[in-house]
Amino acid sequence: MNDKLTVQEAASVEETLERMLTRLSGIVPEFEIAAKAELAFKVNQLKRECNAVILGHNYMEPALYHSIPDHVGDSLGLSRISAETNADVIVFCGVSFMAETAKVLNPDKTVLCPVEKAGCSLADGITADDVLQLKEDYPNAPVITYVNTSAEVKAVSDYCCTSGNAKGVVKHLLDAGHEHILFLPDEFLARNTADELGIAYVHGADGERPSPGEPTVIGWRAHCEVHELFTVEDVQSVRTQFPDAVILAHPECSPEVIALADVSGSTAAMVNYVRDVDASHYLLLTECSMGDNLAAEFPERDILRLCSLQCQYMNLITLEDTLHSLQKLQFKIELPAEIIARARVPIDRMLAIA
Ligand code: 13P
Ligand code: SF4
Repeated sequence: MNDKLTVQEAASVEETLERMLTRLSGIVPEFEIAAKAELAFKVNQLKRECNAVILGHNYMEPALYHSIPDHVGDSLGLSRISAETNADVIVFCGVSFMAETAKVLNPDKTVLCPVEKAGCSLADGITADDVLQLKEDYPNAPVITYVNTSAEVKAVSDYCCTSGNAKGVVKHLLDAGHEHILFLPDEFLARNTADELGIAYVHGADGERPSPGEPTVIGWRAHCEVHELFTVEDVQSVRTQFPDAVILAHPECSPEVIALADVSGSTAAMVNYVRDVDASHYLLLTECSMGDNLAAEFPERDILRLCSLQCQYMNLITLEDTLHSLQKLQFKIELPAEIIARARVPIDRMLAIA
């Protein structure tokens, strides 16, 4: 149970509205909260009737994020929760690859994504055939794929990782004696992870070869279409205007941006930092809804809201879609049994490491 969020326990539409106003006033216009309270109340009622659990990624829009999920979090946290839930139905308010991961972990449960295809530029940036080709090109390198990939890609991988444990998974393989590791498909996460570990990076997308005896991450060419847009100039401009601000950047940002940030981490790491570390201002270099969600959750913190970058896929998911999802049991994630069985292996290995 997400104990930060009490809206879902409200006994009526009026009480739902009151609790949403308390949480969201100043963040979301009041007329918008009023329009969404009834939807939130209906979702919460139906959720209980269906013995469903709602998982909400940290990028969900504020009214949804603060009203219906039983659990909110990053990809790693939500994967862990989906592996342990007793609910009959899992509704994943996040993009398709996240709901697919929940299905792989719960093949016998109904797993729903409120929109039919909520993509991701990283998941769309590599195919299973690309991975098989890279395995041929680098036959001794184990394959780690970012959780932001399709189930088919995971099915041809050795390990999975998220932004929350990428360093730990690479280190696990280095400690096991591997010197060259394919890390797919996010070039920036691969470079940033190699930098954090102080090891080399080569660009597998260009056929570059690692040096024998030198621990090396071999990367691919995909980028997050949101995080790649943050620039060094953005960071410098914030530093000039707000010299005391702590800048937190998601590791899908470029290495140049990460080098100028104060903290780099998954969306859950950002939540924890803002909760636990006192600073005069915080700036999050990630999808904009996060700034709004944290400003609502931690009203005592000054979170700069200079961001204008939204993920077009995460933003597809609305309270209305989630209600329809529960009413019609749509859109069911269906995957071939053989893909589920093979994709489960790298996911289970990841969960066992962290
Ligand atoms: P997190 O796992 O850090 O939540 O990131 C997911 C994502 O899609 C970031 O763009
Ligand atoms: Fe994919 Fe980027 Fe959107 Fe995250 S923010 S879901 S990585 S496109």
